[in-house]
Amino acid sequence: MTIHENYSLRKLNTFGFDVRAARFGEIRSAEEIPLFLEKFYRQEEPLLILGGGSNLLFTRDFPGTVLRISLGGITLVEEGEKEVVVSAGAGVIWDDFVAYCVSNGWGGLENLSLIPGLVGSTPIQNIGAYGMEAGETVREVRYTEMETGRQQVISGTQCRFGYRNSIFKHELKEKTIVTEVVFNLIPKKATEAREGLKLDYGHIRKELEIMGVSDPGIREVREAVCRIRRSKLPDPAVTGNAGSFFKNPVVTAEKADTLRSGYDCMPSFADPNGIKIPAAWLIEQCGWKGKRFGDAGVHINQPLVLVNYGQATGQQILQLSEQIRRSVLDKFGITLESEVVII
Ligand code: EPU
Repeated sequence: MTIHENYSLRKLNTFGFDVRAARFGEIRSAEEIPLFLEKFYRQEEPLLILGGGSNLLFTRDFPGTVLRISLGGITLVEEGEKEVVVSAGAGVIWDDFVAYCVSNGWGGLENLSLIPGLVGSTPIQNIGAYGMEAGETVREVRYTEMETGRQQVISGTQCRFGYRNSIFKHELKEKTIVTEVVFNLIPKKATEAREGLKLDYGHIRKELEIMGVSDPGIREVREAVCRIRRSKLPDPAVTGNAGSFFKNPVVTAEKADTLRSGYDCMPSFADPNGIKIPAAWLIEQCGWKGKRFGDAGVHINQPLVLVNYGQATGQQILQLSEQIRRSVLDKFGITLESEVVII
């Protein structure tokens, strides 16, 4: 493995910030990981494991080693009557994996189409969209334990998936390198019988209608989700962004009732932990939608997404996010939590 010094991360973070890593290396086989750890783990300098760089905000040059995990490969492990078991290397591009599964007729991931990033990050933040979460289909996650260099396996249940949450953000935070994720998917026969489709979130049904589809299968759902995302969300290849910058806050039923008495148009959704209020709505109510300050801005179609129109720095985006956070707190008494990891 080659280690580069003073390496530009501009193409490796979807905000497109031109920050540099003191050292950069790329892992192309799981066997290289223990060798790498022996050399670089436990040193004074920090270590950052990089996936697709689609959920990160770099506010400065990184003073340590950035390690990109480029472990490829998709394997059909088992094809049964009730489920298909498919495994993917952590470095596989998430949407390539979804496309591959959909083209084979395997269901369970189609609503997660076009989410930027790599397979290895999906269990960490339990990516979710249009009524589906990756965690629902994760059978197990294979990872290297950084402390020992040993390969470990954890089941989907042990991952304790929640809304943009998992064990990898708690007990296992910064202790693992995910190498492979194994998924339980819905077999072709079942998806052909239209089993397991999730069509009730947001505009999926409406989009299928526009497409002229009356009997959708997973291919059509993927297409509908791609069309919705392309129309609403900025393409990071064109405009730097990291998807939703904040999580949707969950408040108590009492708090939601109090807010509703002041804002009867407030959208809200039931959540296992209370009432979820769309952060996009809170931010829009505070007047931020479509605002731009130099090259840092709040997206015009989806105010939950902060964008770099060209030359913005991570510090500028961070400052903007702090101003948004403060105004939502002042107006609604709700503290927005970042979804994006700030470095
Ligand atoms: N809304 C507004 N104004 C807007 C846009 C939305 O008030 O300009 C309100 C509406 O009430 C709308 C609600 O927000 O019904 C929800 O909007 P949307 O369906 O766009 O979803 P979201 O809750 O804002 C979440 C995920 C997205 C995911 C979408 C679709 C989080 C933090 N974000 O956004 O994920 O694509 O649902 O399922 O949960 C990401 O994580 O990077 C991401 C893009």
